[in-house]
Amino acid sequence: MRIAVVGATGHTGRMVVRLLRRSHAVVACARRRGPLERLRAEASDVQTLCLFEATPDGAAEMIASRRVDVVVQCAPLRAPLAARLARGCAARGVHYLDVTAEAAVASAVYEMADVPGRQRGVIVSCGLGPVGGVLGTTLASLVAGRGHAVELTYVATGFATAAGSRSSALRILLARRPCVPRRVDFPPPFWPGMALRVPFADAWLLERFHGVASARTRAAVTGGSFTGEPERARDERVPFGIVARAHAHGTQTDEVAITGTAPYDLTAQLVALGIACIVARPQGAAAGFMAPSILMSPARVVDHLADSPLLRWFRATSSAVAA
Ligand SMILES: NC(=O)c1ccc[n+]([C@@H]2O[C@H](COP(=O)([O-])OP(=O)(O)OC[C@H]3O[C@@H](n4cnc5c(N)ncnc54)[C@H](OP(=O)(O)O)[C@@H]3O)[C@@H](O)[C@H]2O)c1
Repeated sequence: MRIAVVGATGHTGRMVVRLLRRSHAVVACARRRGPLERLRAEASDVQTLCLFEATPDGAAEMIASRRVDVVVQCAPLRAPLAARLARGCAARGVHYLDVTAEAAVASAVYEMADVPGRQRGVIVSCGLGPVGGVLGTTLASLVAGRGHAVELTYVATGFATAAGSRSSALRILLARRPCVPRRVDFPPPFWPGMALRVPFADAWLLERFHGVASARTRAAVTGGSFTGEPERARDERVPFGIVARAHAHGTQTDEVAITGTAPYDLTAQLVALGIACIVARPQGAAAGFMAPSILMSPARVVDHLADSPLLRWFRATSSAVAA
């Protein structure tokens, strides 16, 4: 496939480019030419292409003119820009995948790009990163059915992100006020911490596409001793965890959890899996906006990551809830 990576010079984008160029032709897109040229110096088979923030419609046209099959959006675009880019791609028959954890981005992309995506038979999907997207919806799918209430809690022992991730995290935090912290217990190696309710994309995806009665997402940073650049967090294997709890009619709780490290490496792997699922789609298969956990089924995600040294899975448990 021919794949354009938007935000290719960023922390996420570079990892996505490195992984995808092994099996695909990659067109790298960002705003500044200097970092793009440096990226091409590292990887001469990567083509470069500049984008300009002010004209996302023009950007979609420019990308499509390179005859790409898929756009992977790894820049911290605000919802209106991301949605116009997604619509532009879908209208030109180009698949659109976004790694965002922002519910506002996912819902805006859905509003603007679902219909053109269906009309042109291409996939539009958001939340292909491990935080606030495909892993949360996958875990929830393992324990929750239609009509269940789902709680997803993210935890990390430190907060080390690149600039784009920080601006995105800030938008997510500011999207919901007031944030009332709640004490949550996590599996090892974490310890109890105060979690804030935050509107991650997986809550919106679960309610909109998985038929759950309600979905809530929370996030906590326990320990908090680490701040800095993501490369350091990766080297020091700073862990994060996700716990999914589901219950129906107040009688039973099912729980499943994972702990992992290196969320940016995982993002690249999940994007690659999303692309593999697009490649494997039968002719005439469903198109338009798709939750990532529908594009790549939970079984496929579990299978793909089962042996990954970056993730450890905890089996689902059931327990009765006192009446
Ligand atoms: N859900 C998850 O688990 C997950 C995981 C990783 C990342 N993410 C998301 O991925 C996004 C990027 O994060 P990051 O930490 O990788 O960011 P980053 O390292 O700061 O990189 C940002 C990249 O986007 C480009 N860019 C920024 N604004 C742009 C615009 N308007 N048009 C075109 N390109 C633009 C930058 O290029 P220039 O320097 O040329 O502007 C750069 O290549 C964030 O939204 C983050 O939340 C999500």
